[in-house]
Amino acid sequence: MAVKVLGISSSPRLKGNSDLLLREALAGAESAAAQVEYIRLSDLNISPCVECNSCYKTGKCGIEDDYQMVMSKMLDADRLIFATPIFFMNVCAQAKILIDRCQCLWAHKYVLNKPLITGSGRDRRAMVIAVGGTKSKKMFESIRLTMKYYFDVLDMRYVANLFVNKVDDCGEIKKHPLAMKEAYRLGSELVASETLPSEKPIDVELT
Ligand SMILES: Cc1cc2nc3c(=O)[nH]c(=O)nc-3n(C[C@H](O)[C@H](O)[C@H](O)COP(=O)(O)O)c2cc1C
Repeated sequence: MAVKVLGISSSPRLKGNSDLLLREALAGAESAAAQVEYIRLSDLNISPCVECNSCYKTGKCGIEDDYQMVMSKMLDADRLIFATPIFFMNVCAQAKILIDRCQCLWAHKYVLNKPLITGSGRDRRAMVIAVGGTKSKKMFESIRLTMKYYFDVLDMRYVANLFVNKVDDCGEIKKHPLAMKEAYRLGSELVASETLPSEKPIDVELT
């Protein structure tokens, strides 16, 4: 059966820099015979978590919107590629809203002590693509931490980062052939079970 790769684009800009890198990574995954799916959060209606904590009792989110559809795709996927711009040193709001809604998965696992994925032992892996307009030492630190906890809640192994600095204008990433090439390569390597196996995510950071 083909490996299912889900790409989530969180940038509000259609064909923005992180979005274009994600598309390239998905093309790489497809070249490795994966079945790929792309979703763009700005096309969907996902409200922020209201901290009602009803999920602590039910394991389910009390708000019904497009989150449930995205959640089932995230739980079904073998691989996840999550793309975000850097906004104020972190993921953008669209990304954070989705991540916060995963609190129901956290409650399911850690409050109700139920296994998240039926058929445990599945090889589920995730990678991050992030693009910032400037360059600073700590630019990707918050992203690392946020994504680590997000992937943990999804029972996915965090295997790779593609971080790109100093790309600001919409679509400017097209003038960065190495970044596009690395996105394609990481997307294709993410599919195979024998590659990218390390405990810590591998980093590709470009300027
Ligand atoms: C609200 C906002 C906040 C931003 N914050 C940062 C930042 O903290 N550091 C940085 O280097 N670039 C920042 N940028 C620039 C974006 O990261 C940059 O334009 C990036 O290429 C956008 O990626 P996208 O085209 O995938 O949306 C910010 C842009 C916006 C609109």
